[in-house]
Amino acid sequence: MKVAVLGAAGGIGQALSLLLKNGLPAGSELALYDVAPVVPGVAVDLSHIPTAVKVAGFGADDLDAALVDADIVLIPAGMPRKPGMDRADLFNVNAGIIKTLAEGIVRSCPKALVGVITNPVNGTVPIVAEVFKKAGTYDASRVFGVTTLDVIRSEAFVAELKGVDVSEVKVPVIGGHSGTTILPLLSQVEGVTFTDEEVAALTPRIQNAGTEVVNAKAGGGSATLSMGAAAARFCFSLVKGLQGDSNVVDYAYVAVDNGDAPYFAHPVRLGKNGVEEILSYGELSAFEQKAKEDMLATLNKDIQEGVDFMAK
Ligand SMILES: NC(=O)c1ccc[n+]([C@@H]2O[C@H](COP(=O)([O-])OP(=O)(O)OC[C@H]3O[C@@H](n4cnc5c(N)ncnc54)[C@H](O)[C@@H]3O)[C@@H](O)[C@H]2O)c1
Repeated sequence: MKVAVLGAAGGIGQALSLLLKNGLPAGSELALYDVAPVVPGVAVDLSHIPTAVKVAGFGADDLDAALVDADIVLIPAGMPRKPGMDRADLFNVNAGIIKTLAEGIVRSCPKALVGVITNPVNGTVPIVAEVFKKAGTYDASRVFGVTTLDVIRSEAFVAELKGVDVSEVKVPVIGGHSGTTILPLLSQVEGVTFTDEEVAALTPRIQNAGTEVVNAKAGGGSATLSMGAAAARFCFSLVKGLQGDSNVVDYAYVAVDNGDAPYFAHPVRLGKNGVEEILSYGELSAFEQKAKEDMLATLNKDIQEGVDFMAK
């Protein structure tokens, strides 16, 4: 298994790379790419951890070498949010970065599974897809927006609110990955029930959890450690699928035919080719149905922004 992390010297990149160094199957390779000159040092640092995962660092000019033959590419490269900014403010900076990196994937590992972390995910995933379409290498089952952070935050917050064992809590989260487009399906959490007031308070807390971190870091960036944990968890699901386990179901923002929007986070069954099956998210409560209908215009606009960026 070769996993490439693009943006590996950043806050998310370093946390993620640490978890991958410790958690990828023995014999795997971890390729760390970043434009920041510290990246070879991050690789040397990680290489001193005694696990059977080989780490190599690649600087600004070595994108193709980092990507060659990668099975999985995870992309946390780009600018994070500062207080007062929303994810859309990042679009102009991060769209160009994502395009460049996606073009590298086309050249060096067009069959890789690609997990996009760079915000705004609602728009950066369509950019990756458009780059691949233009190159004739697009396979919708191989491109993912990583929304696992919404899932793990939901698990943490539900366990905290209900005083239950967090390892037993599963919360489906569908839609997109910013503000109201994030839709936790609290009505489907097994073993606990919520009052209407709890749903009305917990839903926006999950949707705005990123802002909680941005404000608490007071200008020092956005979620990095929890995002590193989330991306590692998602990567391990992809790895299991690639290894032939056909029972891996996880949530991700994927292209959907005839769905709510052209891209929408769904439960997906993973396998050797990435998405084997897009699963239904089941019945929504009246609250969730209304929240979904209310956010679709925003999500579609975010998606179109990505598509338009590539059409220009
Ligand atoms: N999907 C999510 O749930 C989620 C959660 C939190 C943050 N994010 C996003 O992840 C991204 C990274 O956040 P961070 O906190 O790690 O930021 P950071 O600034 O700490 O790290 C970003 C890294 O990207 C590198 N980089 C910039 N341009 C690059 C390029 N062209 N090629 C390779 N590397 C490049 C930088 O050198 C830096 O090391 C941001 O866009 C942030 O908004 C996503």
